[in-house]
Amino acid sequence: MPLVKATEETILAAADALARGDLVAFPTETVYGLGADARNGKAVARIFEVKGRPQFNPLIVHVADLKAARDVAEFPPLAIKLAQKFWPGALTLVLTRNERSGISDLVSAGLDTIALRVPAHPVAQQLLKSSGVPIAAPSANRSGHVSPTRAQHVFNDLMDRPAFILDGGPTEVGLESTVVGFDSNQVYLLRSGGIPRAQIEEVAGVGLIEPPKEGERPVSPGQLLSHYAPHAGLRLDAKDARSGEAYLGFGPQMPAISGINKNLSAAGDLTEAAANLFAALRELDAAGPDMIAVAPIPNEGLGEAINDRLKRAAAPRDG
Ligand code: TXA
Ligand code: MG
Repeated sequence: MPLVKATEETILAAADALARGDLVAFPTETVYGLGADARNGKAVARIFEVKGRPQFNPLIVHVADLKAARDVAEFPPLAIKLAQKFWPGALTLVLTRNERSGISDLVSAGLDTIALRVPAHPVAQQLLKSSGVPIAAPSANRSGHVSPTRAQHVFNDLMDRPAFILDGGPTEVGLESTVVGFDSNQVYLLRSGGIPRAQIEEVAGVGLIEPPKEGERPVSPGQLLSHYAPHAGLRLDAKDARSGEAYLGFGPQMPAISGINKNLSAAGDLTEAAANLFAALRELDAAGPDMIAVAPIPNEGLGEAINDRLKRAAAPRDG
């Protein structure tokens, strides 16, 4: 049974497993990650296998601090500024890879850039320090499922495939990190997430812009629609549930619903709603409705990332 409470002892054992090339699922402040030693190509390949994830999706590498990050990538001045302000925390920076990094090419899916993040969660920090390795880690769910915000979600999806699933309780932010990329003095928003756009723009001193599209290929595969999908369909901006639908509400104006329903935040608090989003979707989905109707969510602050995830989950898909 790989699911264990995160303690000094289990974190040390998990760090050994990582250094040996095994996979370890661990909590971060955003969502749980499925980690491998980023320098070990075989271990990284197992992440794709275990997640059932298309190979073209590059992974985020987690490191202990900015100093460790500067060993693996080139930091333009604007990136340093953002790192100093938001690390440790829910911001991922996509930067040019440093060729001496020793990071497996598979991590970047062949791109010459690498996504880096310093997580704030104490269990993630201890794991990084004990193992001494950069940890490549996507969210610890099967591909196409919503990201796990509890250790039990990880176990439900991956069972005993990771050597350890470190239980550090529910994650605080509940949404993946915000991903940004750089080009001269411009900053691209590659994925909205746990740190709202406005906070980043304030520190960067420039607006975040849409990434350029390379032909048909999105610059960040994380922007592919239908990346986060429950089994049920989603009907967005729904003021009420129709017969047979589950309902996901937001705010104090919850309609009277006879069927299965949840409120993301009765107080109408977007931070609380973000933290509840994935667990609420899983819970409603588990009841087996054909459709989950979702209340309108204001598109400000963390609402931008919440609406992005809901749109992906609502996108038509084939299995
Ligand atoms: O909060 C998070 O970011 C979580 C925790 C575990 O840290 N991780 C996570 O990883 O969500 P993942 O693999 O599910 O998402 C990584 C995102 C994807 O949108 C991916 O396309 C983008 O980062 N990404 C990674 N490397 C990139 C690169 N070189 N260029 C552009 N986008 C990249
Ligand atoms: Mg993911």
